[in-house]
Amino acid sequence: MVNQETVDPQYHREIVSFIRRGGRLTERQQDAWDELADAHVLDVPRAVSSTSVDTAHRLDPVTVFGREAPLVMEIGSGRGEALVHAAAQNPDTDFLGLEVYVPGVAQTLVTMRHEGVANLRLAIVDAAQALATMLPEACLEELRVWFPDPWHKKRHHKRRLVTDEFVPLAARVLRPGGTWRLATDWEDYAEQMRDVLSRADDFDFSGDWSTRFEGRPVTKFEAKGIAKGRTIRDLAAVRR
Ligand SMILES: C[S@@+](CC[C@H](N)C(=O)[O-])C[C@H]1O[C@@H](n2cnc3c(N)ncnc32)[C@H](O)[C@@H]1O
Repeated sequence: MVNQETVDPQYHREIVSFIRRGGRLTERQQDAWDELADAHVLDVPRAVSSTSVDTAHRLDPVTVFGREAPLVMEIGSGRGEALVHAAAQNPDTDFLGLEVYVPGVAQTLVTMRHEGVANLRLAIVDAAQALATMLPEACLEELRVWFPDPWHKKRHHKRRLVTDEFVPLAARVLRPGGTWRLATDWEDYAEQMRDVLSRADDFDFSGDWSTRFEGRPVTKFEAKGIAKGRTIRDLAAVRR
């Protein structure tokens, strides 16, 4: 079982799973940011860096979304292609995206505005820190991690997010019966994910690949993987 004692509240990784490239916003992104960021990008009190979170900060989904509804979260939501699609398809569910790449968050706001989506919030924060303290325990119906790996060179494998150390964090935020979904186009990361889930006592896992999750549109990253002839692997595990 996972409880507060098994998750270090000071959790942070010295090796993070991302590089923060600056990158300017396009005019359209800036415009969407100016219009929507106040209402849709969460104000996260920081600990040290601009992607950290004050360990005392607690997010209250009911306050943030203004209602009680099932909550689905995507880690590394990128340009928000999958997240906005899911939010538009499921207006009775709330969606939260964690992303450290600011232009990606701004692009998500552009698409959100275009789709007229309201049930979506974004937080610019390192997911590993957010899962350890910011999110309430058992608050999620689903946790999604789509194509988390820009780090296919072996020397970067230590930066991968989905490891044995990450499992207690995922277990902490998922409600019993909630689903952790993952997808990747890198075969050796898919195998790592499968091994990690097979060892995860807090999850029921078939030990095998899942069929492609119907709720995910083909994102830019998925399309790139397919174009390069890579096999897309989906995985799903259920919180005990
Ligand atoms: C390869 S992209 C995939 C984006 C998106 N999921 C998709 O399928 O199009 C991975 C994304 O995860 C983000 N990311 C990586 N580590 C993260 C972390 N620890 N917390 C939040 N976002 C992270 C990166 O900034 C990047 O945008």
